[in-house]
Amino acid sequence: MRLLVCPPRYFRVDYVINPWMTEQIGRVDGELARKQWGELMESLSREASLLEIEPSACSPDMCFTANAGLAASDRVVPARFRMPERSREEGFFERWFVRSGFEVFRLPGDEAFEGEGDALFQPGDGLLWAGHGERSRHATHDELGRIFDVEVVSLGLVDSRFYHLDTCLAPLPGGRLIYYPGAFDEASKHAIESRIAPERRLAVEEDDAVGFACNLLRLGDRIFLNRASPKLRRALARWGFETFERPVGEFLKAGGGVKCLSMMLDQPET
Ligand code: ARG
Repeated sequence: MRLLVCPPRYFRVDYVINPWMTEQIGRVDGELARKQWGELMESLSREASLLEIEPSACSPDMCFTANAGLAASDRVVPARFRMPERSREEGFFERWFVRSGFEVFRLPGDEAFEGEGDALFQPGDGLLWAGHGERSRHATHDELGRIFDVEVVSLGLVDSRFYHLDTCLAPLPGGRLIYYPGAFDEASKHAIESRIAPERRLAVEEDDAVGFACNLLRLGDRIFLNRASPKLRRALARWGFETFERPVGEFLKAGGGVKCLSMMLDQPET
């Protein structure tokens, strides 16, 4: 498993494009952020190969590589950011994908698509959960389905704290997932609940959701996340996962957790 990551050398909160960033301008402790990132990467590097892209001084959010694009089977759809504050990142990421040998599929038109932040494969199931309503546009979903040859289930996001799908839903192998129901419109909750049997889905409580527990990275049977309640950890343990807290509080000030700090360059079969 390869992960794309970007050192947070220039990470800071310079603008407000999600509710977490409100009143955080200039408040990031850069040294602490780099320490938190380093400790997370240290753990991830034991489970996956980390490929680094050079950060750009003009793009303080570039460390959130989950938004670089969506990749599977050496194909990648690069992001087109909704937010002008982040659009400069597109070129850096796209050039990196080309240089790294990916077949690049640019979405037609000019609708926004913020990469893996809003599109998550259900492992081994030929299904892609795709978010819209806050950042990515619904209109991009069909094309994603064609490029990756999967069924796409579109999910409407309605709580601006959970503006990317990866902040409120995490697919897990064995047809399982965890999600925060309050982040979705009624039809989308129904779409999730009609596809995933009750014993295979876990609705997290608000306290876990705001601690970015759904923003998890699963590597094998290990789950890395910012923070999880004992109840959530026990539930994940019953499903066979060991949970590791890797606090990334400085990044939460920008609205990103553990998952946002990496992009999967390969999709696990199971
Ligand atoms: N400040 C960034 C933004 O609002 C955070 C991105 C977090 N990424 C994610 N995949 N949820 O775009």
